[in-house]
Amino acid sequence: MANINFAYLPGDGIGPEVGEAAMTVLNAMAIRFGHTLEPEFGLVGGAAIDAGEKPLPDDTYDSCECTGAILLGAVGGPKWDHLKGEDRPELGSLLPLRKRLNLYANIRPCKPYPALIDKAPLKRERLEGTDFVVMRELTGGIYFGDKGRDAQGAFDVCRYSDMEVERIAIKAFELAMTRRKKVTSVDKSNVLETSRLWREVVIRVAANYPEVALEHLLVDAMTMHMLTRAQDFDVVLTENMFGDILTDEASVLAGSMGVIPSASLSDGRLGMYEPIHGSAPDIAGQGKANPLAMILSAAWMLRLSFGLNAEASAVETAVEAALEGDQTTGDLGGKLSTQQVGEWIAEYVSQNDHQS
Ligand code: NAD
Ligand code: IPM
Ligand code: MN
Repeated sequence: MANINFAYLPGDGIGPEVGEAAMTVLNAMAIRFGHTLEPEFGLVGGAAIDAGEKPLPDDTYDSCECTGAILLGAVGGPKWDHLKGEDRPELGSLLPLRKRLNLYANIRPCKPYPALIDKAPLKRERLEGTDFVVMRELTGGIYFGDKGRDAQGAFDVCRYSDMEVERIAIKAFELAMTRRKKVTSVDKSNVLETSRLWREVVIRVAANYPEVALEHLLVDAMTMHMLTRAQDFDVVLTENMFGDILTDEASVLAGSMGVIPSASLSDGRLGMYEPIHGSAPDIAGQGKANPLAMILSAAWMLRLSFGLNAEASAVETAVEAALEGDQTTGDLGGKLSTQQVGEWIAEYVSQNDHQS
């Protein structure tokens, strides 16, 4: 029986709401499978600032490093938008967590659930058969270059080393080998020098994977291709900022911002798991947030950091059942609150008979 010891960082806005729903599901999973759940609560982001701490308090970081598995809600919001640089929740907590733990590979799936296909704004034929994964580089690029102000204005430097491109490209090709053996590398090599390097290195890495088809697309065109031929993509490999933007777009294919989980990985079992959405200040505190992305992130934590495959699948099966039974929040046309969705899924996980 496993001891599931992880850092639980709910953060700001809807973070604690979707976090509570996910914890309800994790508790049900632990009881059903006879595991011990040992979350270590940590303050992060605006919640830490409000408690008089830094956005990433030392004890929060220590617990992330020690447990090696982090379940994070979201950070940031209008309350802290007046803060600058690393005093901000995003720059002072999320980015340093990713960087210091070397979580360079961010995986974000886009596979619209059958039950959601008619709820998305795109036509059914644009969505059916879509199943791709974005491999987003997470610890380099413009997010982490020098930034500042000078007499002329402001600057953010975008830098990539060969090594940074190579290691994320390897992750993408390795993943493609387990899937439909296609990598689409997205860059802006008609303008950016970092993108020219990106393309060169990706081509070099591709030589070691002769079975994998490689396609290059410019990021502006990709935003269009993603809406017109999403079915053609298998693994989409891209840099930090393009991956951020493209995955919010991908959430429209999937039916809602509230259904896409993510894993940020290094090498080995160290991982941070978080929904791709933010703290959603417009709906925070109202029980309207869709908790599925957070619940699915928790399932990924079980699988990838703890090797608990049956447990992760049980949670994912329950999420599918909730969608098929219309047990959803308002963003998907349902009537349930965040916590009611969590309870429905927890109840489903608790029942042995329909689990594989
Ligand atoms: P957002 O993702 O928070 O919200 C965008 C839109 O999607 C909003 O209309 C929101 O209501 C909706 N939405 C998001 N999650 C939802 C859910 N689970 N269920 C239903 N609807 C949902 O993006 P934003 O408004 O641009 O950013 C708000 C704050 O969150 C900012 O401070 C930003 O920096 C921060 N942010 C944090 C993270 C993170 O911590 N990983 C990610 C993105 C944004
Ligand atoms: C995300 C978020 C973050 C990012 C922000 C909050 C720094 O948008 O995880 O998608 O841009 O990486
Ligand atoms: Mn984002």
